[in-house]
Amino acid sequence: MSKIIDGKEISSHIKSEVRSETEILKKEKNVTPGLAFIIAGEDPASRVYVKNKGKACDEAGFYSVTEAVPGDITESGLLDLIRRFNSDEKIHGILVQLPLPAHIDQKKIIEAIDYKKDVDGFHPVNAGKLSIGDKCFIPCTPFGITEMLRRKNIKTEGMRAVIIGRSNIVGKPVASLLLRPEFNCTVTVCHSRTPDLKSVTSEADILIAAIGRADFVKRDFIKEGSVIIDVGINRTEDKETKSGYKITGDVDYKDCFDKCGMITPVPGGVGPMTIAMLLRNTLDAAKGKIYD
Ligand code: GUN
Repeated sequence: MSKIIDGKEISSHIKSEVRSETEILKKEKNVTPGLAFIIAGEDPASRVYVKNKGKACDEAGFYSVTEAVPGDITESGLLDLIRRFNSDEKIHGILVQLPLPAHIDQKKIIEAIDYKKDVDGFHPVNAGKLSIGDKCFIPCTPFGITEMLRRKNIKTEGMRAVIIGRSNIVGKPVASLLLRPEFNCTVTVCHSRTPDLKSVTSEADILIAAIGRADFVKRDFIKEGSVIIDVGINRTEDKETKSGYKITGDVDYKDCFDKCGMITPVPGGVGPMTIAMLLRNTLDAAKGKIYD
């Protein structure tokens, strides 16, 4: 079996499952999954992410709208937009691309989204439900990670999972997920203030790197035969490429490859899974599968 966990391949299976279920939903219930994107400002990486997510919606047969607003939009302007989508029956999911411009209170914006349309799983109601093990929208990156483990038949029961990074988007929710009975991992979350990080990560059967530092994890961080999940998407300068940069993960892939048991590449690992799980969450929202 290949050592490489091919997120592109797994995500394309999920996307085709979503596409067929969408066709059935349209035929049988006359419901088209609808997703609204809100993006404020000109950050080029965020614009590309939203464009790719919109394209994935088209391919799945979804209805989608993108509100690309200037970076100087007021907080109340943004709240108005959210309220409009909250009460739009054609819209089952709302995604506000993060980060938001500095003058906007991100917490206030996320809390304004109807939690029943919060396909990102960032609303405190969904975050709380995830933590207590209730049905809820699961944030797309953590959901993508566990779905890769599940579809690769990795028997996580009893495994020691170590996460580097404690963000609300990845670190904390993936920790909650791996604690659930369907995974039964023993979970440790490390962060920038963890002393002797290597001594913790080198005990991990599953190591999840979500720190946002290119090539941070080297071979002396990892346990022989472990599963390495690289969440990093770092732009590093590369004069050889047309764009002048390349995308690098948080794991030094070459350095770790022969020591680990399995590894996700960057690009082509966790990234495409995140988009696939966004489609899954939106379809489930349209079906009323998470909340009626
Ligand atoms: N910015 C980086 N990742 C994400 C994500 O998963 N969702 C949203 N809304 N913004 C992001």
